[in-house]
Amino acid sequence: MKPVTDQYARPLRDIRISVIDQCNFRCAYCMPKEIFGPDYPFLPKEEYLSFEEIGALARAAAEIGVEKVRLTGGEPLLRKDLPQLVQILAGIEKIKDIALTTNAVYLPKYAAELKAAGLQRVNISMDAIDDAVFKKMNGRNVGVKPVLKGIAAAREAGLKVKINMVVQKAVNDDQIIPMAEHFKKEGISLRFIEFMDVGSSNGWKMSSVVTKKEMIEMLSKRFSIEVAEGAYYGEVASRYRYTDGSGEIGIISSVSDSFCSTCTRARISADGKLYTCLFATKGHNLKPILKNGKSAEEIREALAGIWGARVDRYSDERTEETARNRSKIEMSYIGG
Ligand code: GTP
Ligand code: 5AD
Ligand code: SF4
Ligand code: SF4
Repeated sequence: MKPVTDQYARPLRDIRISVIDQCNFRCAYCMPKEIFGPDYPFLPKEEYLSFEEIGALARAAAEIGVEKVRLTGGEPLLRKDLPQLVQILAGIEKIKDIALTTNAVYLPKYAAELKAAGLQRVNISMDAIDDAVFKKMNGRNVGVKPVLKGIAAAREAGLKVKINMVVQKAVNDDQIIPMAEHFKKEGISLRFIEFMDVGSSNGWKMSSVVTKKEMIEMLSKRFSIEVAEGAYYGEVASRYRYTDGSGEIGIISSVSDSFCSTCTRARISADGKLYTCLFATKGHNLKPILKNGKSAEEIREALAGIWGARVDRYSDERTEETARNRSKIEMSYIGG
């Protein structure tokens, strides 16, 4: 079947599948603990798509152009038997890239099994190398050691690793250089992410954002870096390389320099709703089409219909007003 494109001619290339909306951390920019407390209405497990349903969805998506699948959460490793899902996805011929975004704490337990099931790479969230800063940011008083152990486990298992650091002014901007130094030495690609106004609970304001330009200025004072080619069409990170050959860094600048014009990503929540933008308000419920074992053709047509009508470009249009007043889905529900 023909690949589908949306109203701005953007193809559907990747799906980001959230497998659970819960997490063992409470990062204030994502799941502030005052809001995500013991009474927070997380999805009941019965609402989750089953692995078979996710497999059917991914198979249909692959028929209309999807080549990449990323598993997200909350924390995806909290979903029981996740390697089984990886194995199902790895069996889909047209899916070339299977990746996972995680906080790494459970990687020592699962990395080898995930790799054996067909996982290729992991993006690991780590916002500071300083224990005190990290403990404060993750809201659970967890030090950096468990994360470093998770990173080591992923590498030992043969998974490709990148690190994600969400940067917030006066919270962890003093960690930019120490983090770069650490991961340069390790030869691991570190991506700095501008703090985004995802959801309605993280208290985002423009003045908390450290922009790409500011980050490049800081980094350039300490290191010699130059622009590097993007690795693939629609990549969210702009890449830079150390001129001494010791690797790369990336900057994900959704706020100061948005990338909607090449956005090829559909997002699926754990309960089977498809969102055509990270900042969407409403999703398309796919459960009825997945639940009753409908034919691959019906699933494909539903996906193609939704994608074909897509006009989202939130980050291109963002203002302080949209950031404050638009009701948006939460990051932990849609996985970034
Ligand atoms: P790669 O496949 O390794 O390039 O991964 P990725 O960067 O696409 O995914 P990851 O889950 O590591 O996300 C890194 C950051 O980019 C997170 O903060 C995401 O929320 C953000 N991000 C990913 N896709 C989009 C997008 O389409 N729009 C916006 N605004 N941010 C995105
Ligand atoms: N702004 C930018 N990035 C965020 N992430 C979570 N919340 C935000 C936010 N408000 C990142 C996580 C993870 C990825 C999926 O998204 O740190 O690395
Ligand atoms: Fe959990 Fe990742 Fe959100 Fe932190 S950013 S609360 S680790 S899902
Ligand atoms: Fe894509 Fe929406 Fe992000 Fe723009 S803001 S890049 S349309 S997900």
